[in-house]
Amino acid sequence: MKSSDIRKAFLEFFKSKEHDVQASGPMVMKDDPTLMFTNAGMNHFKDVFLGHGDIKFPRVANSQKCLRVSGKHNDLDEVGVDTYHHTMFEMLGNWSFGDYFKDDAISWAGELLTEVYKIDKNDLYVTVFEGDKEDGLSVDQEAIDIWKKHIDENRIILASKKDNFWEMGDIGPCGPCSEIHVDIRSEEDKAKKSGKELVNADHPQVIEIWNLVFMQFNRMADGKLVPLPAKHVDTGMGFERLAAVLQKKQSNYDTDIFEPLINKLETISGLRYRIVDESEHKQQRDINIALRVVADHVRAIAFSITDGQLPSNTGAGYVIRRILRRAVRYGYQTLNLKEPFIHRLVPVMAKQMGDYFPELNSQKELVQKVIKEEEISFFRTLEQGLKKIDQLCIRVNNDKGTEVAGQDVFELYDTYGFPVDLTELIAKDYGLTLDMSGFNNCLKEQKDRSRQATTVEAGDWIELKEDDIEEFVGYEHTETNVYITKYRRVVVKGEERFQLVFNLTPFYPEGGGQVGDTGVIENDQETIAILTTKKENNQIIHITDTLPSNLEAKFKAIVDGEKRRLSTSNHTATHLLHEALRELLGTHVEQKGSLVSPKHLRFDFSHFEKVSAEQLLEIENMVNAKIRQNIPLEEFKRMPLEDAKEMGAMALFGEKYADVVRVIKFGSSVELCGGTHVRATGDIGMIKIVGESAVAAGVRRIEAITSDSAFAYINEQLETVNQLNALLKNPKDIVRAIEDLQEQNKQLQKEIEVLNRKQAGNAKGDLKASAKEINGVNFIASKLTMDAKSVKDLAFQLKNEIDNLFMVIGAEDKGKATLTIMLSDNLVEDKGWNAGELIRSWSKHIQGGGGGQAFFATAGGKNPAGIDAALEEAKTLVGA
Ligand code: SER
Repeated sequence: MKSSDIRKAFLEFFKSKEHDVQASGPMVMKDDPTLMFTNAGMNHFKDVFLGHGDIKFPRVANSQKCLRVSGKHNDLDEVGVDTYHHTMFEMLGNWSFGDYFKDDAISWAGELLTEVYKIDKNDLYVTVFEGDKEDGLSVDQEAIDIWKKHIDENRIILASKKDNFWEMGDIGPCGPCSEIHVDIRSEEDKAKKSGKELVNADHPQVIEIWNLVFMQFNRMADGKLVPLPAKHVDTGMGFERLAAVLQKKQSNYDTDIFEPLINKLETISGLRYRIVDESEHKQQRDINIALRVVADHVRAIAFSITDGQLPSNTGAGYVIRRILRRAVRYGYQTLNLKEPFIHRLVPVMAKQMGDYFPELNSQKELVQKVIKEEEISFFRTLEQGLKKIDQLCIRVNNDKGTEVAGQDVFELYDTYGFPVDLTELIAKDYGLTLDMSGFNNCLKEQKDRSRQATTVEAGDWIELKEDDIEEFVGYEHTETNVYITKYRRVVVKGEERFQLVFNLTPFYPEGGGQVGDTGVIENDQETIAILTTKKENNQIIHITDTLPSNLEAKFKAIVDGEKRRLSTSNHTATHLLHEALRELLGTHVEQKGSLVSPKHLRFDFSHFEKVSAEQLLEIENMVNAKIRQNIPLEEFKRMPLEDAKEMGAMALFGEKYADVVRVIKFGSSVELCGGTHVRATGDIGMIKIVGESAVAAGVRRIEAITSDSAFAYINEQLETVNQLNALLKNPKDIVRAIEDLQEQNKQLQKEIEVLNRKQAGNAKGDLKASAKEINGVNFIASKLTMDAKSVKDLAFQLKNEIDNLFMVIGAEDKGKATLTIMLSDNLVEDKGWNAGELIRSWSKHIQGGGGGQAFFATAGGKNPAGIDAALEEAKTLVGA
């Protein structure tokens, strides 16, 4: 069965069981402060599990793009080493939201696997939760009884909380689970050892394929479990593993999901992926691992980019950059690829998966460009790193050391992306070892630092008043009366904060690029500042640093109106800008990110070259024309997604849209948007583009300001022009006047140079004449007003013209002093004098320092008055 048919069969099966089949949500999480990437299909339904979201469909199924780089088994460093873990993978899932529970979930899983996919029952094992004393839970007998109807009792295994109790995080919905494992070993191996013994033992061919989670509890911050009001089912099946089972392959990488990628890599590298006993064939093992790493990682990178997350230095972008660098490293080190190669896999991937994930086709060019640029820059870093290792090793050898310091190994690992084993190999060539304990300490320190930076400690929600939905009224109002329905204490980066939820709110929560509102809640007793507003699990959360003394009181919630007005102006301007860009540059322009704050707006979009100054001016003019037309806002609060698209709204990849969306229309500009907008474009006043730059290959950024900021900016610029006019005494043409000044300056410079040369010529004659012979030395000691370069020229000329020369010149130039010593070579030998040493000692007189060689040295200092003292020293030395 082809992998595409396997996916289709799953979705059709659950459709026949009345599930709503949905598209995959984005792999990159936006607007969720607790998660950077989707790591399980259930993430996108978190709010439903928590009881905050509407249940539109009680039964849902999909195939979700997921990414795991850390977790129970998945450490990025491990992916590729075995044959069944991945960074990016597809999770086939079916869900019941308060609808069916264990009976149907288990029965359907059994039916699908054995009757549709025709997996032999004798190859299946299932694990069931054995109970846990600490949590006061007994064995999941219900699950056992249901499984017994479908599978031999002997194949049901009890497993502990560690493997069979699934929790979303430290707190939140959780419940016992039942995992389905398949034994895909050869008949011969099966006869030797029962698969039952290999379940949960990290055997590459006795693997878990499906996890059925029975969500029935909520874990509180004190660790206690309380039953959820409604019971849910959350299942997740590893698509790649299922494909290996059904295609009778020994590993996921042998399936048609990875085969084309590995084939292409074989062509590029000239190496082969060969199934061998990897414990015996070390070199082939390394090649296999490298091929698996690259084939795996390109998927994570490509989907991240199509979802709008480009590689970068922070957050999710940094995770992707690390994955990409890991792939490059394996290619470089093991596959001997010394030029960018990962981007060449993108068309293969698009061909293989593009039917189900159309974003791979529509954004193919962009993905390739971004990856290629990243590769080029990392190849450069790798080369620098190689040089650095060599230098380090040479230094250790020179110092007669035996070990490369842990700190250095860490820097190579962290900054240059060098794996420790590569550093070790190179160090070995120099006869050195690595200080591994020092390295591990650095690594631990870094992990502790990043843990601290990201740890959010959250207490339980304290419910004050019962309330279903916290309505957002901020499109119409910036002030309303509210009361607090619940709150909790959190600690973010060591600082105490409180999160408040109201019955309704005028505060706009950060989202769609627009920053969260700030403001206050107040009553007769007190005023509490709202520091920002965010959305989490479908709730609007107001962040404060103090709790009101009376939590039950009524408050007036007041949004900072001025900031909101400016954000609003910037947000509408962003829409107009987007439209103008597409009109002028072409429809390949797609939004890749935006930031809308009271201060400014930033808009990132796909485009393959710099936007020229003329184009920017035209874009600005186009937007300003729309502003002057004062086009009124047409807001459609609830429109079916399909109708919105028909109207011209563009759905962005990487965003998850509901079936019913909000549409914002200003004339011909139509966007799906939850942000706040002006009543008519005239409210924006004016837009001024203030920056254009590259964010990554194929992605440009425009920064702009509007309204008050734009006027202020223009006035500042005008003020500068006014000042220039005044300085230049109001010339008719100011540009011309500056050009004239520049020209004059050039002429004057030339004249100065001529004069300098002349002066130096005169000085040379004078100096020559002043030479005195003392004890066989032709001694010149003189004070001049001259620049350092001219003195140097003079010194070298005189060295050629006078034998046995010992010349010391102190020169003054623009308030600074220089000392110059020139010695004939024979004097260096005969007298043992050294200009470099002499100057180091004498430069103290001019309050400066310098150095040089034995025959010639210079020093600079800030005290011209000390020149005489320095010359005296010279006289003393020669005995003048
Ligand atoms: N949430 C469960 C898992 O990730 C099942 O989807 O395994």
